[in-house]
Amino acid sequence: MTHADERYLEAKRTVDDRALDRRVRDRLLDTLPSDTQIVEAGAGTGATVPRLLDWGVRSGTYRGVDRNAAIVDRARALRRTELDGDPVDGGFRVDDLAVRFEQGDALEAFDGEQADLVVAQAFFDLVPVEAALDAFAAALGSGGLVYAPITFDGETVFQPSHPADDAVIAAYHDHIDGTPGRDVHAGRRLLDRCRERAGDLLAAGASDWIVRPMDGAYPADEQQFLATILSFVADAVSDVPGSDDWLRTRRRQLDEGTLTYVAHGYDVLYRVA
Ligand SMILES: C[S@@+](CC[C@H](N)C(=O)[O-])C[C@H]1O[C@@H](n2cnc3c(N)ncnc32)[C@H](O)[C@@H]1O
Repeated sequence: MTHADERYLEAKRTVDDRALDRRVRDRLLDTLPSDTQIVEAGAGTGATVPRLLDWGVRSGTYRGVDRNAAIVDRARALRRTELDGDPVDGGFRVDDLAVRFEQGDALEAFDGEQADLVVAQAFFDLVPVEAALDAFAAALGSGGLVYAPITFDGETVFQPSHPADDAVIAAYHDHIDGTPGRDVHAGRRLLDRCRERAGDLLAAGASDWIVRPMDGAYPADEQQFLATILSFVADAVSDVPGSDDWLRTRRRQLDEGTLTYVAHGYDVLYRVA
């Protein structure tokens, strides 16, 4: 299972909606110019587009890049249908916002742009933080913004507690850290790097994912979201003593509607010099 899975990304939308920090979002909207030129790194299924429209960003251009060609195709189809977009060359238009999705490496695709905003949601924990900041700075005009919501920061909680929790979660985090380019504490690393650079860290807030059953059931498609998270953990912990029982127990709890999950993240808004 990869992060570019359509059902996982679509199921994630309601979890993200609850998690996003409103103060960071409001600072973003207060600072954005009108007629905004927006690029998004790791756009996935393009869930940012309806969110921006809901927030009143309805004119300018949006260009979402993802390295996974299949998810780019799905982003085009899903968002155009959801938003009833008018087809235009290379994409579609909603109100005065022209939207297109492209396949590419987001650390290279925006070089030389003069964008107002780079969105990188749930992205900095998948790539080297400093290299991504360099790439985004090169994509922005002077005073341009990097909005990086839902940046994982290496804290994971499953409840109720299980005797193998500490070993399983440590192995899961070690697996992320051992993946080339990834840093399990990307959230705090991003905050550090933004403070050290010449620009301004305009806002930061916690954006923890909290998925919990209500009356024994999960909202929207969040049971599927959590099943995918468990599959990420399963891929990382097969050698850990007790992990078989841990996974069996967690999957049963998910079926019964008794499993709660928390992942700590940060929303960051940074303005380049
Ligand atoms: C966790 S998903 C988040 C998707 C979307 N931002 C969201 O929050 O719904 C991360 C996405 O980044 C993409 N990705 C990872 N590294 C990339 C890179 N270097 N360039 C472009 N896309 C990348 C993956 O294919 C995946 O679709």
